[in-house]
Amino acid sequence: RWKMEDVPDEEIKVIRGMLGPEDHVIYALSEGVDSTVAATAVHQAIGDRLHCVFVDNGLLRYKERERVMETFERELHLPVTCIDATQQFLGKLKGVVDPEMKRKIIGKEFIAIFDAFAQDLEQTMGKRPAYLVQGTLYLDVIESCPPSGSGRTHSHTIKSHHNVGGKVVSIVRALGKILDIPGAFLKRHPFPGPGLAVRVLGDVTEGNALDILRQVGEIFIQSIKDAGIYDSIWQAFAVFLPIRSVGVQGDQRTHSHVVALRAVTSQDGMTADWYNFEHKFLDDVVRKICNSVRGVNRVVQDITSKPPSTIEWE
Ligand code: XMP
Repeated sequence: RWKMEDVPDEEIKVIRGMLGPEDHVIYALSEGVDSTVAATAVHQAIGDRLHCVFVDNGLLRYKERERVMETFERELHLPVTCIDATQQFLGKLKGVVDPEMKRKIIGKEFIAIFDAFAQDLEQTMGKRPAYLVQGTLYLDVIESCPPSGSGRTHSHTIKSHHNVGGKVVSIVRALGKILDIPGAFLKRHPFPGPGLAVRVLGDVTEGNALDILRQVGEIFIQSIKDAGIYDSIWQAFAVFLPIRSVGVQGDQRTHSHVVALRAVTSQDGMTADWYNFEHKFLDDVVRKICNSVRGVNRVVQDITSKPPSTIEWE
């Protein structure tokens, strides 16, 4: 397996050469593997002149913040400031149902947070950070409301912000070489920048939709991993539907939530086929969900390919 120590010396030199000896860099980390690998390489090159920041926007998956922070700190020894901006994001998203509007709001909040972080750093250091590097996901949400199906998951570009210098592009280009290395390491399913906001249909702040979605998603993904089929699937996730249906659980009639399961195979996200699970797998997973996630009494499976559907529901 590829290890962080394997970043070639040559690449480290390239990164060092691109930066002035006093330059400080802010790295906006996403949970994505490639952004993590790139940050680790920059860290090896410039040490504590690198300031990583990870934003919890309240739209992450089950225990995701804890899991990624642990990986950053324990496995990669990356110094990362974690900003809990849950209230800030959810406050802005309250009542918003239009998918593109959700994306715009999320992108704008990320920018506001990075700018504030840069300003704080400037005050502490008495010097403006020279660069802001953004992980894939932030970049995707910030740059975009991309047209549906634009295959946005693995690109790297850099955007300059008001409070930071804008000369970053070449660093990440150089890192592209490194990013080609970690084969197996990169096999994680893509996760959209706007996170669970595009998987809770409608207003994400309604009731405990996000919470339910996190639990269902975790059961689904864990079952997929246990079945040994994770690597055969491009993406698998649950979607929270803004409807209720009647059910019967125990001897009680319920009027509860409906979730959809979606899994697809794809080469690049531009087109996709729905994944054909075995009957027993689906049966087990649906039982597990209804038995352990309070508030869910019906599970449906999305068996539409792309086109005519998109991979995400919003
Ligand atoms: P669709 O739903 O358009 O998705 O078929 C294609 C791929 O893009 C991901 N996706 C996004 N990624 N920001 C992202 O970073 C977004 O707003 C976004 N919307 C969709 C989707 O998960 C799939 O991999």
